[in-house]
Amino acid sequence: MDTHTADTAASGEAAMGDILQSTPCEGVLLIRMNRPAARNALSIRLLGGIAGALRAAQSDPGVRAVVLAGDDKAFSAGADIKEMPDNGIPMWGQKERLLAWKTIERFPKPLLAAVEGYALGGGCELTLLCDIVIAGEAARFGQPEVRIGAFPGDGGTQRLPRVIGKSRAMWMIMTGNFIDGRKACEWGLATEAVAPGQALPRACEIAREIAGMSPIAIEMIKQEVLMTDSKPLDESLSLERKLLLWQTEDHDEGIAAFMEKRKPVFKGR
Ligand code: CAA
Repeated sequence: MDTHTADTAASGEAAMGDILQSTPCEGVLLIRMNRPAARNALSIRLLGGIAGALRAAQSDPGVRAVVLAGDDKAFSAGADIKEMPDNGIPMWGQKERLLAWKTIERFPKPLLAAVEGYALGGGCELTLLCDIVIAGEAARFGQPEVRIGAFPGDGGTQRLPRVIGKSRAMWMIMTGNFIDGRKACEWGLATEAVAPGQALPRACEIAREIAGMSPIAIEMIKQEVLMTDSKPLDESLSLERKLLLWQTEDHDEGIAAFMEKRKPVFKGR
C-alpha cells in the first residue's frame, strides 16, 4: 500500500478515480477532488467522477447534503488546459464534459463548496453552482481564461454577473485578476470567509445542520430559490404559491413538534 492509499484508508475516504468520498457525519457526503499535482484541474475524468458521485447521492435517501472540496492549495484551477481535443471536437465541447456540468447544475440536494487555495476558471464556475460557499480567507477566486485568449465557458459569463453584478464581473473576466476569500464574501460569491484551513470543517458543520431538516423542504427551497435565475418574477411567485400547497408528513411533524415543544423528527415524506 503506498503512502497516499494508506492515508486515504486511515481517513475513511474511498478513492474513486479522481475523487475521494467519505461521510464526515450522518447525512453528509464529502466529495474531495483529488488531483493535487494538477491543482485539481477539471479533467473530463474528474468532472465525470463528481457527476457520478452526485447521481448516486441523488438517489440515496441517506445523503441529505453534499460538500465539495479540493485541498489546501486548490479547490480547482479550472478546466484541464492540457487535455487534448478528441475526434476534432475541442475539449470544452466534449459530450461527457457537458453532461457532467448538467448533472452538477441539476443536482437537487444542497451542494456546499469548501474553498481553500485557487478556485479559477471552471473551478470558480463550479462554486457558482454550489448553494453555499465557504472560503478560506486566503482562497483565490478568478476567471483567468482571458489570459489564454478565451473566456469563461462553463456558465461564468452568465452566472458571475448575476451573483456579483455586471461591473465586478466585467473586471474579473476582462483582467483575469483574482480576489481573495474575504472579497469573495464581500461581493456575494462566498457565504462566509473563515481562517485558512477552516473552510472544510465549517462547510461540514453547515451541511450537518441542513441534513437535520426535512429533506423535502430543503429540496423545495433549492428549487424555488434557483427559479430566480430562470423565470420571470410573476411566474416564479405563482409557482412558489402552488408548491406551498404541498402537504407533507414532515410539515405536519414540524408543526406538531412546535406545539409539543420538542425537536421534530423528519422522515423525508
Ligand atoms: N489545467 C491543467 N494543468 C494545470 C492547470 C489547469 N487548469 N492549472 C495548473 N495545472 C498544472 C500545472 O501545469 C503544473 O503542472 P506541472 O507540475 O506538470 O508543470 C501543476 O498543475 C502545478 O501548477 P503550477 O506549478 O503552475 O502551480 P502554482 O501553485 O505556481 O500556480 C495556478 C497555480 C495559479 C493555478 C497556475 O497553475 C495557473 O495559472 N493555472 C491555470 C489556471 C487557468 O488558467 N484556469 C482556467 C482554465 S480554462 C477554463 O476553466 C475554461 C472554461 O471555463 C471553459
